[in-house]
Amino acid sequence: MADTTNQIGLTKTELASVITALNTLLSGYHLFYLNVRGYHWNVKGEHFFTLHPKFEELYTKLQLQIDEIAERILTLGGTPLHAYSDFIKHSGITEDKDVFDGRACVQGTIKGLQTLIKEQRQVALVAEEACDQGTADILAGYVQDQEKEVWMYNAFLG
Ligand SMILES: [Fe+2]
Repeated sequence: MADTTNQIGLTKTELASVITALNTLLSGYHLFYLNVRGYHWNVKGEHFFTLHPKFEELYTKLQLQIDEIAERILTLGGTPLHAYSDFIKHSGITEDKDVFDGRACVQGTIKGLQTLIKEQRQVALVAEEACDQGTADILAGYVQDQEKEVWMYNAFLG
């Protein structure tokens, strides 16, 4: 009986799909993180002084979330992906290279946030099916925050 549950009392077989889904999410976060770093570095134009620090604020937050997701995977008894080749293979977000225009950077940011929000709602459902309320709660917090970010970036675009 002890073999069927993990260290926090959740069923291992049910958690396998949560761990897989979290690794896919982790991959998307890494690609998005790199895209936002690119926006931070490359953005040009009249909104440089607004967008350059705004993108830094976002990628700093993404970096913390990346660590939290990876450590959640470990808490559940899984192993987080940690190679770029794996991230590219599993990510729901694609590379957005050489973007310089401020509006295009913001559009790419909104698209990435929307992809993460959609994916996290799905992962939360998988987690709830496995009685993993802890994971669902973490993701609910991210979704709430990112929904607000989408509103603000859209407001910037007018
Ligand atoms: Fe910087």
